[in-house]
Amino acid sequence: MVKICCIGAGYVGGPTMAIIAYKCPDIEVVVVDISVPRITAWNSEQLPIYEPGLDGVVKQCRGKNLFFSTDVEKHVCEADIVFVSVNTPTKTRGLGAGKAADLTYWESAARMIADVSKSSKIVVEKSTVPVKTAEAIEKILTHNSKGIKFQILSNPEFLAEGTAIQDLLNPDRVLIGGRETPEGQEAIKALKDVYAHWVPEEQILTTNLWSAELSKLAANAFLAQRISSVNAMSALCEATGADVAEVAYAVGKDSRIGSKFLNSSVGFGGSCFQKDILNLVYICECNGLPDVAEYWKQVIRINDYQKSRFVNRVVSSMFNTVSTKKIAILGFAFKKDTGDTRETPAIDVCKGLLGDKARLSIYDPQVTEDQIQRDLSMNKFDWDHPLHLQPMSPTTVKQVAVVWDAYEATKGAHGLCILTEWDEFKSLDYKRIYDNMQKPAFVFDGRNVVNGDELRKIGFIVYSIGKPLDAWLKDMPAVA
Ligand code: UDX
Ligand code: UDX
Ligand code: ADP
Repeated sequence: MVKICCIGAGYVGGPTMAIIAYKCPDIEVVVVDISVPRITAWNSEQLPIYEPGLDGVVKQCRGKNLFFSTDVEKHVCEADIVFVSVNTPTKTRGLGAGKAADLTYWESAARMIADVSKSSKIVVEKSTVPVKTAEAIEKILTHNSKGIKFQILSNPEFLAEGTAIQDLLNPDRVLIGGRETPEGQEAIKALKDVYAHWVPEEQILTTNLWSAELSKLAANAFLAQRISSVNAMSALCEATGADVAEVAYAVGKDSRIGSKFLNSSVGFGGSCFQKDILNLVYICECNGLPDVAEYWKQVIRINDYQKSRFVNRVVSSMFNTVSTKKIAILGFAFKKDTGDTRETPAIDVCKGLLGDKARLSIYDPQVTEDQIQRDLSMNKFDWDHPLHLQPMSPTTVKQVAVVWDAYEATKGAHGLCILTEWDEFKSLDYKRIYDNMQKPAFVFDGRNVVNGDELRKIGFIVYSIGKPLDAWLKDMPAVA
């Protein structure tokens, strides 16, 4: 029986290994992590991450060929294939701070693998890491190996949160990069055999190590670039009276462009896009390519611009002040169907409104109060450091209340901001909400989920990203 061990039981490691176990009954999969609460949760009824369909898969395999353990060394030692799926935060200090990936966790995982291994292993890079990390890891492993042979593969994960199970079951492609030596090719084949249990062969692409590493950064940069492109258009639409949804639809009909990932929003979030682009920028700079670096930086600048533009719009439409006004925030997760808040645009929008002294009442169907308070009191880039995977620090932001219902959040509020596209926000009783709000009552739809015209009939003043502006909003221009 082939034995797989995955180091890191997070958003990538957990679901990916669950699907491998589910599709490969002949393989034993153990997911290990240094975080005791995380592993305890994976072994409980309440999994540590919310992901549609994940529960069923885990329950079916757990205890049969899928295990979660904190005994990292034992399971690494026994494995034939070791996936490394630890966090790679953005560095907050020293060389490359604010851009470069911090490979501390990766390096310590690699050293541990070298230390405890007694047999040859395939080591698979699963977390997104800078190009040429595999080479560095290979050096650590071979210089500390006591004669044991390691083959390094890069096998980036392309799943998106909220659809992880579907993405894993029906991937557009699986990408495996490895050395061009006979041993490297053999390792590629071994990993290919795992995926071939359910992925058609023609969808399993094999490349050299660096192409695989770079493809992951490039794919995320291209996706984020589409969002920044449509968001840049949304600003122009508001200025000219065009409707960004109509423009995006028309543009996306060109089969060379395609229709996906063209939804204008308050900005993209998530653990990958910004981090991977910053990484790409850093790699470009290190390779003497400042023009290429500048090009990609602009994708992040537009994303930041979009978030601050939204805050400015809220403040300017409410007579240029939100001081002491109650503002309801509907949705805090970075997208629907996940409880994940990493880099969510809601953090920047809330911080912006708090900076203008607003009082916030926040509701999200999946995010806990602890998480929201922690996110709003944390510094940029700190979220990915393990300290914050531990129980909550005692700081709370006093102007913030977290409530468990959209009606409660909006009661007595001057305005409401929709920051995540949860389906339930489409079918709220907006008449009831309107009746319980201060007047004039404002809706700022950062995800284009509500029907603006219907809300206007109720009496709301409505702002929807990239849509023609109400007379009210035209009279109160936001300075970006
Ligand atoms: C373009 C648009 O495609 C068309 O829809 C619009 O109506 C007019 O502008 P055109 O300029 O005739 O058409 O040719 P196109 O095939 O788009 O190529 C434009 C340039 O891009 C060419 O120099 C082409 O060589 C280059 N190109 C195109 C690339 O460098 N790489 C590509 O992948 C595609
Ligand atoms: C992304 C990639 O999609 C995935 O392939 C990669 O493995 C990890 O990063 P994820 O961050 O989980 O996945 O979610 P994604 O669906 O890509 O959304 C990212 C952000 O972009 C979200 O905040 C989402 O709301 C936003 N978005 C997405 C838009 O604003 N408009 C769109 O049209 C699509
Ligand atoms: P991702 O979204 O990439 O899956 P996460 O932050 O959700 O990232 O998960 C990474 C996990 O890796 C965390 O649960 C963390 O505790 C774990 N981890 C980090 N370093 C190590 C290590 N050396 N050994 C085992 N687990 C580790």
